[in-house]
Amino acid sequence: DWTMAEFRAAKIAEIREQVGDGNVICGLSGGVDSAVAAVLIHEAIGDQLTCVFVDHGLMRMNEAEQVLGLFREHYGIKLVHVDAEEMFLSGLAGLTDPEKKRKFIGGAFIDLFEEEARKIGGADFLAQGTLYPDVIESVSFTGGPSVTIKSHHNVGGLPERMNMQLVEPLRELFKDEVRDLGRELGLPEIFVGRHPFPGPGLAIRIPGEVTKERCDILRKADAIYLEEIRNAGLYDAIWQAFAVLLPVKTVGVMGDARTYDSVCGLRAVTSTDGMTADVYPFDASFLTRVATRIVNEVNGVNRVVYDYTSKPPGTIEWE
Ligand code: XMP
Repeated sequence: DWTMAEFRAAKIAEIREQVGDGNVICGLSGGVDSAVAAVLIHEAIGDQLTCVFVDHGLMRMNEAEQVLGLFREHYGIKLVHVDAEEMFLSGLAGLTDPEKKRKFIGGAFIDLFEEEARKIGGADFLAQGTLYPDVIESVSFTGGPSVTIKSHHNVGGLPERMNMQLVEPLRELFKDEVRDLGRELGLPEIFVGRHPFPGPGLAIRIPGEVTKERCDILRKADAIYLEEIRNAGLYDAIWQAFAVLLPVKTVGVMGDARTYDSVCGLRAVTSTDGMTADVYPFDASFLTRVATRIVNEVNGVNRVVYDYTSKPPGTIEWE
């Protein structure tokens, strides 16, 4: 039986052995997996590692600042911050098809990442926080015929294009084990316990066209929802919870005025690996409180609905 301390020591030796005196580049997404991979690799090879954080402007409230703060203040890891909000939003303008949105974001991400790698003189290795379920899910999906449900956003394709080898120290681990390893490495609990967040970010939580204005509306609604979940002590019992902003307007009434604004959907599921999921059964009073706050506090939303679909047949994200 492995302890995380032994796993950590063994992986560090393995990374040193694989990398030698080569250079490693690692994309930070803001999520747990890439953060744990980066800290582990940094412990193994120090300044031979450079992290690149591409901020596509599709992050949640304060998320980019949190990631940058954590890495700048605590780890002394070489970090490149690419502020690419305008580039992503202008590329997303007019796109409404979920796969077109995903493909644009994945492609733009690779282009920017490649450019940054070139700027630092190239790298011999690309580090990724690939987990065991990612390895499986890319092979087959729920055992059925091999069809693409969603094109996942990662840096696939880059290693060949840039002649790099992969460093994937988390390949044998499940999410709960990655969290344990993160704790072992001293990452703060607020970071280690975070819900998963998809690479394409809020773009796949805004069905239809993504605009800066809609991202801002969604960020506010999502932050209220998550704040209420944390206050109720439910955050750790839920695999993932988030708001979506629908491209549907409905009529409402505020005071004595008519409103005509967007619908916000709320999602919360339990799961162990994201491959199947059950709806989280909130109390009606909890959902009522969240709906009231969102409609009162978020301009542009006048109706809130809760998603009662498990996976399958639904997926966790709406696109
Ligand atoms: P779905 O929506 O397919 O999501 O049921 C399963 C899990 O994967 C996350 N997800 C992604 N993660 N890049 C990622 O890094 C992606 O393109 C992506 N799409 C979905 C999703 O948030 C859930 O945890």
